[in-house]
Amino acid sequence: MSILQTENLTCVYGKGTPFERTAVDNVSLSIEKGGITGIIGHTGSGKSTLIQHFNGLLKPCSGRVLLDGKDIWEGGKIMPGLRFRVGLVFQYPEYQLFEETVYKDIAFGPKNMKLDQAETDARVHEAAELFGIDEKMLAASPFELSGGQKRRVAIAGVMAMRPEVLIFDEPAAGLDPKGRRAVFDIIGKYSRNTGCTVIIVSHSMEDMACIADRLVVMNRGSLFCHCPVNEVFSRSDELTGMGLDVPQVTKVFSELKKRGLAEDDNVYTVEQAVNSIMKFLRKKGGDPAC
Ligand SMILES: Nc1ncnc2c1ncn2[C@@H]1O[C@H](COP(=O)(O)OP(=O)(O)OP(=O)(O)O)[C@@H](O)[C@H]1O
Ligand SMILES: [Mg+2]
Repeated sequence: MSILQTENLTCVYGKGTPFERTAVDNVSLSIEKGGITGIIGHTGSGKSTLIQHFNGLLKPCSGRVLLDGKDIWEGGKIMPGLRFRVGLVFQYPEYQLFEETVYKDIAFGPKNMKLDQAETDARVHEAAELFGIDEKMLAASPFELSGGQKRRVAIAGVMAMRPEVLIFDEPAAGLDPKGRRAVFDIIGKYSRNTGCTVIIVSHSMEDMACIADRLVVMNRGSLFCHCPVNEVFSRSDELTGMGLDVPQVTKVFSELKKRGLAEDDNVYTVEQAVNSIMKFLRKKGGDPAC
């Protein structure tokens, strides 16, 4: 069942000026309820513009955006409560921290929703627990934290609103490999625990191969495809042609297959690679343990 849909969505920046630019071009897609959808595409392909339409930050130049089948701009006015139902975590969200304490920053969203103190407190603690933020850190100033910790506090603040759809724009940008893994682990856990629909914009095919269930691929403002992850990587030549990289392990397997040293070529995670190699060795009569 779909939760979020676009119908012929088009966004033109600077219309009628010499800088006119069609950032999203006639995109129709339907995002299923639950699970994780990755939105991937080269720089300037329209990813951020697309997701800003999902919570009404941008109004379509033409076309429609529907949440649970309802036009979010019906009658020309934004759907009441939309921003609480569809949460958006911007790139580098830590730049938006501003309260005196981590607690107050995480509580900001729930307070805006006019939730009472007990409910706000419960939500702050629930989000903090997911992120390993203890009482000491809740009382600290967000400005005393490391970059990775600040990022987690900023994300916890949006999660505390418990939106039905939670969108992240490049949530791991600028973090080291350990920080990236930590952020994706938490997003995966949050998605599994809550059943909330998660959408992640990313440049990284490697990251999306590990975390996403489905991928939306954007190319120059248009929708290239929207399908399960394994189907996307079977089109690796086309992806490379549009400046996107397929995971390293997929490239290795494609080369191994050409040389008769592997049978599967639709391998896109290290775990799949290990299973595929073991299966191949067993078939050849070798002992995989050697
Ligand atoms: N506020 C704006 N005014 C004018 N043009 C814009 C604006 N925002 C984006 N654009 C242009 O629209 C196109 C799509 O931009 P967008 O930021 O949506 O792409 P993106 O896929 O998110 O890119 P990136 O991966 O670099 O974040 C680009 O050509 C960009 O220059
Ligand atoms: Mg962007």
